[in-house]
Amino acid sequence: MSEPGSESPILLQALRRQPTPRPPVWLMRQAGRYLPEYQAVRRAAGGFLAMARDPALAAEVTLQPVRRFGVDAAILFSDILLPLAAMGMELRFDEGHGPVLPSPLRSAADIEALAVVDPAETMPYVGEALRLTRAGLTPATALLGFCGAPFTLACYAVEGGGSSAHAALRSLMYRETALFEKLMDKLALVVGRHLQYQIASGAQAVVLFDTWAGGLARDDYLRYAAPWSRRALAPVAGLAPRIGFIRDGTHLLDDLVDLGVEGVALDWRTDLPAAIARHGGRVAIQGNMDPSALLCRPDDVLARARALVAAAAGHPGYILSLGHGVPKETDPAAVAAFVQASHEVAPGTVIAQPLRGSTPI
Ligand code: CP3
Repeated sequence: MSEPGSESPILLQALRRQPTPRPPVWLMRQAGRYLPEYQAVRRAAGGFLAMARDPALAAEVTLQPVRRFGVDAAILFSDILLPLAAMGMELRFDEGHGPVLPSPLRSAADIEALAVVDPAETMPYVGEALRLTRAGLTPATALLGFCGAPFTLACYAVEGGGSSAHAALRSLMYRETALFEKLMDKLALVVGRHLQYQIASGAQAVVLFDTWAGGLARDDYLRYAAPWSRRALAPVAGLAPRIGFIRDGTHLLDDLVDLGVEGVALDWRTDLPAAIARHGGRVAIQGNMDPSALLCRPDDVLARARALVAAAAGHPGYILSLGHGVPKETDPAAVAAFVQASHEVAPGTVIAQPLRGSTPI
């Protein structure tokens, strides 16, 4: 048996496309409102932002799903929008309404005023939360950092919150392209620095979430989004594996792989075996159960997760996951059933548990 601390988390092995005893498993939004222990911390903290900006509370909720389910990765509890606040934008998370940026960027002066900050200085709670989280994990569990891609951040910054048509952003992008590019330049710089900072603070892999880029036609993605994602990812090339995600991005999968990422997280509408056949020799492939299927009975969730594992057929570099985030209505038993589909492949292998100070089983 290897010395404690010497083993590489199976998630990192999979990101290097090395064989693993079972497919590693983790879920987007694995920490969140569907967990009663999360609700309790959120209530005590008095809100989402207070929780995210308190390193001890952020570390605690990051560890909760690792403890409860034995997932193979902890993903920093934070939000893609916090760097926009660090850059000077007002940001609120209103109960039941999602994020609100009450003064969206609409003019050259607004974009000029946006500060190109260094997150190491303006978001020190992130580094501290990563260090505290690491101290609560065994070496078998990977610690993940993340950022929003510049295009998705621009959607929120210009719309002022969630939107489906992104009309304000599209007008800026198509009609005042130089201004849009100036905004994207600033965002790409801050995202690149934030990824570097998270890796320097202990993140062993990072995810770049381009949630809204799937609304773009391919030519527009290549013209208005991809160059800035590439720029944001460049500073951390070779430092830690990078996972790219585009919600509803089946038509952009080739281009996502072409960004040079080490892994791609598939939306649930993408065909898993086809994606593995096309890209599995080049990148790790993560996914991709429909998150809404977590609303099935646990036995049915297990059957669906087993079907994904079977569809990946032992392909090295496969990571069991959802095609997007855990819905807040989810029964934790459904997540446990999903995770079981990985653990049952190789019973008795190291199951990640954040038992501080103890050695892995
Ligand atoms: O467990 C994890 O995945 C880590 C934490 C995490 C959160 N947000 C916490 C969160 C991560 C990785 C994110 C990323 C994020 N945030 C994305 C990209 C991934 C994706 O979901 O597409 C986006 C687009 C956001 C923006 C955002 N934050 C929205 C649209 C919302 C409201 C919708 C919702 O689910 O409530 C948030 C709030 C948010 N971020 C919550 C959590 C746990 C819920 C906050 C609460 O407790 O009220």
